[in-house]
Amino acid sequence: VDPRDNARYYPPFRPIEASRADDMTLPPGFRYQILAPWGEEFTEDGRTIGFNHDFVGYFPADMLEGGHSSTDAYLTINHEYVNAMFLGTEERTPANMEKEKRAMGVSVVRVRQQGGKWSVVKDPKNRAVDGLYDIELTGPVRGTDHVKGATMVKGTVGNCSGGQTPWGTLLTCEENVDGYTKAWDGSGYEAMHQGWVTEIDPFDPEWTPKKRTGMGRFRHENAAVVPTADGRVAVYMGDDMQDSCVYKFISRGTVGTDRSANRDLLEDGDLYVANFGNGSWVLLDYDKNAKLREAKNGDKLLFAGQADVLADARAAALAVGGTPVDRPEDIEVHPLNGDVYIALTNNSKHGNYFGHIVKLTEKGHDHSAETFGWDVFAYGGPSAGFASPDNLVFDPYGNLWMVTDNSDLGSNPIKDFHGNNAMFFFPTEGPNAGKAYRFAVGPVDAEMTGPVWSPDGKTLFVSIQHPGEDSESLDQLTSNFAAAPGSRVPRPTLVAISGFPGWKA
Ligand code: FEO
Ligand code: CA
Ligand code: CA
Ligand code: CA
Repeated sequence: VDPRDNARYYPPFRPIEASRADDMTLPPGFRYQILAPWGEEFTEDGRTIGFNHDFVGYFPADMLEGGHSSTDAYLTINHEYVNAMFLGTEERTPANMEKEKRAMGVSVVRVRQQGGKWSVVKDPKNRAVDGLYDIELTGPVRGTDHVKGATMVKGTVGNCSGGQTPWGTLLTCEENVDGYTKAWDGSGYEAMHQGWVTEIDPFDPEWTPKKRTGMGRFRHENAAVVPTADGRVAVYMGDDMQDSCVYKFISRGTVGTDRSANRDLLEDGDLYVANFGNGSWVLLDYDKNAKLREAKNGDKLLFAGQADVLADARAAALAVGGTPVDRPEDIEVHPLNGDVYIALTNNSKHGNYFGHIVKLTEKGHDHSAETFGWDVFAYGGPSAGFASPDNLVFDPYGNLWMVTDNSDLGSNPIKDFHGNNAMFFFPTEGPNAGKAYRFAVGPVDAEMTGPVWSPDGKTLFVSIQHPGEDSESLDQLTSNFAAAPGSRVPRPTLVAISGFPGWKA
């Protein structure tokens, strides 16, 4: 029997139990390989891979020639934040603060598979778009008082999840940036220079990365890019904070054949927020929405123009009836029917400790629709076997793969029940729709993030983020996962998982 014949509704693996092992645990027949761990040199000039790997973008090396190589690619790896104890940067010296900024941002890394083994290739396009890289502001907030007049800013930080555009660029999402505010000693950042969606071209080191202020400023979790019926692009985005909202950005222009024109598409468009009460997308446009012009805090107007709306998109969203939800983490679009799946990870404020996954269906299955329906796809909890859904990825059959992040659950008993963070498979249709099958378990104190498939479905890349994070000291490590030879310090890393039969043609 070809296991791929049942691929639509059934897991292509034998599900595994929860585990607390300090390892990557996989079903029989699957293997993993460490790839691009923190500290590994990956450029000709000696740059090293950053810390706390998150979203991974897979860009086939032959993509711009119309190819879709599954053995040769530029990977983009988000590096969300650092651990000063593991970096050795606890003392707040200028050199240490620079070292931390260099370990955040995005690594662009060419990788190749030969003889079943992946390795990093020192390609001239490899680079670290790090916390000190020159990045351009675009859109309505560029050059305004909000950013102290800036048109160029230093660095991208808090790089959580993200997305890939059809024209082959990365959208990296600046999420938890509140802790980086500029201090008297010159460390940190101008607050409003971070907290955006930043677009990076892995194929073109000469193209200055762009912060897309038209997509609003909030705790950007992700950016799920999908075409609309009339050829524009819609981008679904979550604001990962308790009682925050789900957004959709729609480009003004349409995707064409000119790649350099496509790269400017996200500079101009409309931002909407989801109202789950009446199933509508509410436009966040100061000139077109009177509620924004009239919104007040006490007797003071909240906004004086569109730049104000975008700079505090969360306040604008709530002012127009955007629905606060239970921490939107990743969002992905079903490849067969266009349904939009949203991971609402948990919200201790109203006792939602386990989270759930919501399915949103646009009217007419058109991503430019202004109304939608929605339902809960799966609830987390002890009987469901999972809690705190975070990153999502679909396979081409429409099965959903999800990784958990239980790190915010404190002493909640689900942590004991659940073991280390895990990856689950869910059929979205058929007799087992919404049922969770455990595929993988990560090492101690780690979160698996950024899952992405090679185009042939034979390799699944997953980031192992913050292994050993709860270690009290370097002498009392909770994990030694992916430690360098001669060291016991755990390293965040990518793993390449093999053993899949690949997609059926
Ligand atoms: Fe960085 Fe909301 O996860
Ligand atoms: Ca996340
Ligand atoms: Ca995802
Ligand atoms: Ca999370």
